[in-house]
Amino acid sequence: MSKHDCKLILALDLPERLSALKMLDTLSGSLEWVKIGLQMYLRYGADFVREVAGMGFKIFLDLKLHDIPNTVASAVDSLQGLPVSMLTIHTCGGREMMERALKSAGDANPDMLLLGVTVLTSLNAQALAETGVGRSPESQVSLLARLACDSGMKGLVCSPLELPVLRRELPPDTVLVTPGVRPQGCSADEQKRVMTPAVAALSGASFIVVGRPILKSGNPAEAAKNIALELETAKGNL
Ligand code: C5P
Repeated sequence: MSKHDCKLILALDLPERLSALKMLDTLSGSLEWVKIGLQMYLRYGADFVREVAGMGFKIFLDLKLHDIPNTVASAVDSLQGLPVSMLTIHTCGGREMMERALKSAGDANPDMLLLGVTVLTSLNAQALAETGVGRSPESQVSLLARLACDSGMKGLVCSPLELPVLRRELPPDTVLVTPGVRPQGCSADEQKRVMTPAVAALSGASFIVVGRPILKSGNPAEAAKNIALELETAKGNL
């Protein structure tokens, strides 16, 4: 069992700014972290990030950057001054891309943690093979995770099922962020393989990302509080 604390991140996957701000208003006091993804970032941009951070939330900007090293480094540099605490990049962009992104982040936004995305969970063995990757998804995840850590990355996004392996293989202080989490009794939506918050925490997650179980709940603040409580209780069992 891992000794990591585990915190909740809300995936703010809503189509419209005002309803998102209203939701966050409801959740203030029950939540510390918010994930802003491509949907909202591309529609509302950096001002929206500032607005959410201005409400007191820490921002995980999920842009999954993947391009040539110079372009990714410049993109990271463009976030200078924006209140972003975590940002995703694709590890399959390779060592140089990750190293250049880390250097840029260190210069532009030293408190921001870069998280590496390994294999998208939407890709199975066949889909990977079609892209020329003959390894199993599990072994490709391990390979990319080790490459990321060798390149200096301190955090990764992974599926809950990958937590035990990555906790065994990676340096113990690696931050592991996992979506695909569902409190007991919640709909899995289209997520294929889910874990409860407590099991994810006990399996070594540093953060869990939860969207619809909170956003679609009749009482989002209570849903978020219950998840936080489950994580706190799991911590007591580590
Ligand atoms: O609503 P739900 O809790 O399923 O939201 C999960 C969030 O995590 C979404 O923003 C989704 O894009 C993201 N995500 C995921 N599965 C992955 C990677 C990211 O669900 N493998």
